[in-house]
Amino acid sequence: MLKLAVLVSGGGTNLQALIDAIDKGAVTNAEISVVISNNPNAYALERAKDHGIEALCISPKQFGAREEFNRAFLETLNSYQVDLVVLAGFLVVLPESMIKEYENRIINIHPSLIPSFCGTGYYGLKVHEKALERGVKITGATVHFVDEGTDTGPIILQKAVEVRQGDTPEMLQRRVMEQAEWVILPEAVNLIANGKVSVSEGKVFIQEQPAAKEL
Ligand code: GAR
Repeated sequence: MLKLAVLVSGGGTNLQALIDAIDKGAVTNAEISVVISNNPNAYALERAKDHGIEALCISPKQFGAREEFNRAFLETLNSYQVDLVVLAGFLVVLPESMIKEYENRIINIHPSLIPSFCGTGYYGLKVHEKALERGVKITGATVHFVDEGTDTGPIILQKAVEVRQGDTPEMLQRRVMEQAEWVILPEAVNLIANGKVSVSEGKVFIQEQPAAKEL
């Protein structure tokens, strides 16, 4: 059984999608051990508690120096001995020591087709504002492993979503969540929990995915 920690900062709809997928058996061999937020008011914490999942907040504001927060955060996370850390709308930059310790064991959901509209400053609604500003016709979401860069780690799954004329950032955000994020995040966890994902030379390989045929 793959033990998960889900890190959140806000509404927690991706956390909810994961909880629901585990409940209905669409994700197997996985359980959420803990939900950790940096924001005491994150609704995601309520979603976890409603479901009997341990939920806690560690905020940088509780600590004098960033280093102290980093240490406390890592200590708390380590105490749950999880196999996989899922960043589900977690808006804090992870300490490098944590990324090293959890190499290929942290995944993130990002609301665009990486490498478009990603990197420093691209999070939440801003991603969709930028996509609309650029006038792209297709956007989507990406689940990737987390490395030392911002949104640069090996890509596990992506799903495209149509941009429609007259979309507001909020409308586009909702469509990307419904059609892509809430689908591929549970799917990625299920693949990892069932031993189907490996990483080699910075690329992800998924077992049982049909290989391209020679023409
Ligand atoms: C989601 O759209 C997620 O992809 C995004 O924040 C939102 C969180 O929503 N994450 C990022 O932008 C990370 N760069 P949620 O709290 O309802 O799951």
